[in-house]
Amino acid sequence: MRILIILGHPNPRSLNHAIAYAVRDNMREAGHDVVFHDLYAERFDPLLFDNEIPEKGNVPAEILSHSNDLCSADGIVIVHPNWWGQPPAILKGWIDRVFRPGLAYRFEEGDSGEGIPIGMLRAKTAVVLNTSNTEESREQKVFGDPLDAIWRRCIFDLCGVRSFHRRMFTVVVTSTWQQRAAWIEEAKRICRNVFEEDPHNKSDV
Ligand SMILES: Cc1cc2nc3c(=O)[nH]c(=O)nc-3n(C[C@H](O)[C@H](O)[C@H](O)COP(=O)(O)O)c2cc1C
Repeated sequence: MRILIILGHPNPRSLNHAIAYAVRDNMREAGHDVVFHDLYAERFDPLLFDNEIPEKGNVPAEILSHSNDLCSADGIVIVHPNWWGQPPAILKGWIDRVFRPGLAYRFEEGDSGEGIPIGMLRAKTAVVLNTSNTEESREQKVFGDPLDAIWRRCIFDLCGVRSFHRRMFTVVVTSTWQQRAAWIEEAKRICRNVFEEDPHNKSDV
């Protein structure tokens, strides 16, 4: 399968980097065709300007290339920390610019944009791996786990990716090296299982 992995974290020594690179290598070892973007390392520009917004807007080749990576993927893995209940801005900008109308989603003929979008992504399955410093029960009770709604419903379900898997590794700041190593192994296992055993992953082509 063609797997797209996106990493949004500035520190090469972070747990997020360790997770994303371990998953990348593990997916490659499993025989997948992996496309990997470390957005900070690539200095991805997250700013969406007006001329780029319309479906037939003026879109730089670099962004179209990202959209092509997204649209041609059979599976998608996103790795990022919880920053204020949201993805880091660089990753938010990747969503804004890369999930384009007419490529990631579209509206019915005659719809002016107020209707229910139709998902166009080829991928059947997405995995989101997050890290945070909040206990799971507090995240659920106090904050309502906004990252789950953002990725599961606002983005992947809307774009037609129905099989969604998410894991929040927490609490990072007080975790031991053994715990972090175990989380990295778990992240690898999640992706291995999801992309090898999930029958939804069988692409039509
Ligand atoms: C700008 C910023 C905002 C953050 N917001 C939250 C938050 O809302 N909830 C939380 O649990 N942790 C928050 N954190 C902590 C990070 O989630 C935590 O440092 C990260 O997940 C640890 O993983 P890492 O070692 O890979 O950076 C925030 C950190 C930063 C820098």
